[in-house]
Amino acid sequence: MLKFETVEKPMEHNFRSTSNILLMMSGSIACAKASSLISEWTKKGHRVRVACTRSVTEFVGSATLQGLGAEMVFDNVFSPGKAMEHISLGKWADIIIAAPATSNLINKLSAGIADDAVTTLWQAAYGQEKPMVIVPAMNTRMWRYPATQESIKRLKQWGIHVLPVASGELACGEKGEGRMLEPVEIVQMIERLLFVDREPSGKRILITAGGTRESIDSVRYIGNISSGRTASRLADALTVSGHRVTWLGAEDAITPDRPCAMPRFCSFEDLSVQLQTLLAESDYDAVIHAAAVSDFRVGSVLTRDGHPLDSHTGKLSSGSDLLLQLKSNPKLLDQIRSWSKNPDVCVIGFKLTDTEDLEQRLAAVKKQFDDSGVDAVVHNDLREISCNAHPFCLHTSKRAMVTCQDDEALAKTINNLMETVS
Ligand SMILES: Cc1cc2nc3c(=O)[nH]c(=O)nc-3n(C[C@H](O)[C@H](O)[C@H](O)COP(=O)(O)O)c2cc1C
Repeated sequence: MLKFETVEKPMEHNFRSTSNILLMMSGSIACAKASSLISEWTKKGHRVRVACTRSVTEFVGSATLQGLGAEMVFDNVFSPGKAMEHISLGKWADIIIAAPATSNLINKLSAGIADDAVTTLWQAAYGQEKPMVIVPAMNTRMWRYPATQESIKRLKQWGIHVLPVASGELACGEKGEGRMLEPVEIVQMIERLLFVDREPSGKRILITAGGTRESIDSVRYIGNISSGRTASRLADALTVSGHRVTWLGAEDAITPDRPCAMPRFCSFEDLSVQLQTLLAESDYDAVIHAAAVSDFRVGSVLTRDGHPLDSHTGKLSSGSDLLLQLKSNPKLLDQIRSWSKNPDVCVIGFKLTDTEDLEQRLAAVKKQFDDSGVDAVVHNDLREISCNAHPFCLHTSKRAMVTCQDDEALAKTINNLMETVS
């Protein structure tokens, strides 16, 4: 439950403990840059062990990595006396970081290939509830190559944190996206990730994002214009502030930049099932339901004369008119509290209106409070949204109202609100 205070709280925290870091390196020009991570981390008191692909030796030698502070360098699963290292290193680590991650490595990890020290270790380490992070480094076209983009998407769906790439001058002399982040940025992001995973006072927050798609047939759907941007900016701000965020997002939604769990949904039904599962399994302190959920699903598809068509098994012919029978979906927001393992979960809903009339806007917000039993409502109106402005009003059950000029201001306000959630 919450009580609302408009107190400004800092968005940053300092990392305060030491960890066992397993750095996995693959053959990129960024190996030299990534090597400096080892000394950065050991200076901070972390223990670092390194696993390398064969091509890493073309860029940086094992002696250099050990000289920089790596306790060991593992590059061959068949090394004498190291038969079980591919299992034990993953157990030893608190966090596993692939940096630099080549396009080859990323595509192998998503395809389930385990043919060297790094890929074998990675698979054996997966599923231990430890953060696993990929820091890509490659030429722009390799980064944009469809297989690489598909692999990134898959890995994210499996709960792996993929850090963003930087843009600028590449080692090959070209300009574009694909550069590995600077070591200082990587260190900061990893510290936040470790901090988030360990900070006991960080709240567990579930954020839904993006729009649902209701299938008409196997290729067509009814969707909406939600991009998921606001929810993703909120997820980033809350992660940076030390909360443990799960971002449950639509397949095509804009994803958060900061590492957090990112399961995906497609249809209303899919979102409903995933929400129920997550809420039953984990003790969330707050749910921010920002997804644009379809009010209708396709019940049946009929010919102009009212004969039902089988739309589930293929593509409907475009030769004649069709009638779509839409069925009303129940409101997910109304059910969040009853599905939640934590009965005191703080529920924040979103309400979009399309009216200039202030009374009507407030009535719509009040209706959401009354119907859904939410603790707070983020309201915005279609008429006020433009390329340059996207204002919101946050209403709480105590009827306090805070106006936020944009996503960033809303993120700060919700972040402050989280501090009051018990
Ligand atoms: C000078 C040089 C720089 C390279 N830099 C990169 C890079 O930044 N990213 C990448 O994906 N591949 C890069 N490659 C290609 C990889 O080294 C090559 O695909 C290799 O097979 C990767 O193997 P690994 O992923 O097992 O380490 C580079 C190759 C050379 C010769």
